[in-house]
Amino acid sequence: MEEYFNEHTPVYELERFRAAFEFMKENAAPGSTCMDIGCGAGNVLEYVKNELSFSVSGMDFAENYVAQAAKRCGCEILKGSILDTAFIDGIKKQYDFVLMGAILHHLVGKTRTGSEELARSAVRNALKLLKKGGHLVIIENAYSPAFPMDVIFYVKRFMTGFSNRRVSFLNGWNNIGAPVISFYTDEKLRRMIPAEIVKDESIDYPDLSPVWKLAGIKKASWVTYICKKS
Ligand SMILES: C[S@@+](CC[C@H](N)C(=O)[O-])C[C@H]1O[C@@H](n2cnc3c(N)ncnc32)[C@H](O)[C@@H]1O
Repeated sequence: MEEYFNEHTPVYELERFRAAFEFMKENAAPGSTCMDIGCGAGNVLEYVKNELSFSVSGMDFAENYVAQAAKRCGCEILKGSILDTAFIDGIKKQYDFVLMGAILHHLVGKTRTGSEELARSAVRNALKLLKKGGHLVIIENAYSPAFPMDVIFYVKRFMTGFSNRRVSFLNGWNNIGAPVISFYTDEKLRRMIPAEIVKDESIDYPDLSPVWKLAGIKKASWVTYICKKS
């Protein structure tokens, strides 16, 4: 997975973070700090630094993304995995806000249950990086029912046994090759969070493509959960 993200380093759009940015703005104090886990190209951190005046840090396991984010934000970007508990425990600083944007579905094991367990441990590790009373922001794509995502997970697992490339399907945008992804339902994502959700938002995709409908997907949304560490 690390190799995949070293080769594919797109910049994802910021609109997904709108609710999170509003909350951060309302709850910021002078000198507020923010850690972005899986910060990618650093565009989210750049916004948080320049528009919300936070002191920012990032983390990513892909070297190319670490370099891009450090250049873009001029701040410390740690190279490491949110699943590496020894690495996380070695970070002595705690932050007012910790962000996890579109990362949980990339934490994949051999099975869907194994992947879910990885996502849960990532959330537990992320909470360790928060100050008491600080907020964890989780942004994900949620799909229901779960069954089509089980199928997509195992098809991608099978395909990546042969090649680590993307494999376009039908309209060219759908991809049944790398990366393997494990998307969850809204309900399942909520159950992964062992902290109080103080704000949430769910925005349904404006329309579902015929391929997704054919695959049995009934609902697809962008979800945001803001959780408070007690
Ligand atoms: C889909 S991108 C999202 C980037 C950014 N957070 C956003 O929402 O625009 C997923 C990011 O998570 C990083 N990532 C995936 N697994 C990771 C892990 N185990 N530890 C740290 N970063 C990881 C990838 O390198 C990539 O930058």
